[in-house]
Amino acid sequence: MINIRKAAIIGCGFVGASSAFSLVHKGLFSELVLIDANHAKAEGEAMDLSHGRPFTSPMKIYAGSYDDISDCSLIIITAGANQKPGETRLDLVHKNVAIFKSIIPEITKRNFEGILLIVANPVDILTYAALKISGYPKERVLGSGTVLDSARFRYLLSEHLNVDSRSVHAYIIGEHGDSELAVWSSANVSGIGINDFCELRGHYEHDEAMDRIYRTVRDSAYEIIERKGATYYGVAMAVSRIAESIIRNEHSVLPVSSLMEGEYGLTDLCISVPTIVSAKGAEQVLEIPLSQEEKEKLQKSAAELKKVLDSAI
Ligand code: LAC
Repeated sequence: MINIRKAAIIGCGFVGASSAFSLVHKGLFSELVLIDANHAKAEGEAMDLSHGRPFTSPMKIYAGSYDDISDCSLIIITAGANQKPGETRLDLVHKNVAIFKSIIPEITKRNFEGILLIVANPVDILTYAALKISGYPKERVLGSGTVLDSARFRYLLSEHLNVDSRSVHAYIIGEHGDSELAVWSSANVSGIGINDFCELRGHYEHDEAMDRIYRTVRDSAYEIIERKGATYYGVAMAVSRIAESIIRNEHSVLPVSSLMEGEYGLTDLCISVPTIVSAKGAEQVLEIPLSQEEKEKLQKSAAELKKVLDSAI
């Protein structure tokens, strides 16, 4: 039996702990289990977060074990090594696939029936690994993908255009990593195409701005890691946004990573494209219109991921 109000986070490093903090503020769950190979760390985070309970809606937060997860509606996996300065997300693949080979069977053994949300990097590869190891239906395994990158993109566009980032509709798709691409062809503010909106706001150097904004999005994690050693708040807010769409059955369109089965001509890999996210998980992958150049970039991004998949899984 699924308890819709109960979730677990596996991995209580910076990303797991920040995700817990963000979930506490969303008030989506009444029970949150924290699991970490270092149980004391999970206990410390649970204690710290629980002390805020009088300031939030009631929520039981505790350090648990895999025996506590069978009735969860959502399991968020952040466990794994993270990027060191100069490392790419794909450099983490072997270490983290090995970690998943031990974590996922612990979950499947417990007859878990909910949704698996993968956050650890390289997220597209690990989402695929989790799907294959678990044998779950494809909708039930999704990765945080380019939800964060798309948020970074909308934020930077909103700064450039001096407009609320929530009014900017634009996606980063492909790998959550160096080969990701910006979908400029459909980026808009209130239905006004991005170049026209730029001109309304007094900007005319489209190529220069597009190139600068894309690079800033793509390299954001490197810039943050160089300064503070890790990224965690942004991704944590992306995690709680995805959790919200699942738990409230919102059917929001979010660029999560999930299995491709012919969409965009891609098969047998997980990659991020706009997807309807509901209580079923990644309910439906959407094929959005792309320019010829965007189509080619998406194929190239998928080819990069395939290369890694072939060597890692
Ligand atoms: C980032 C990490 C989560 O992009 O990959 O910040």
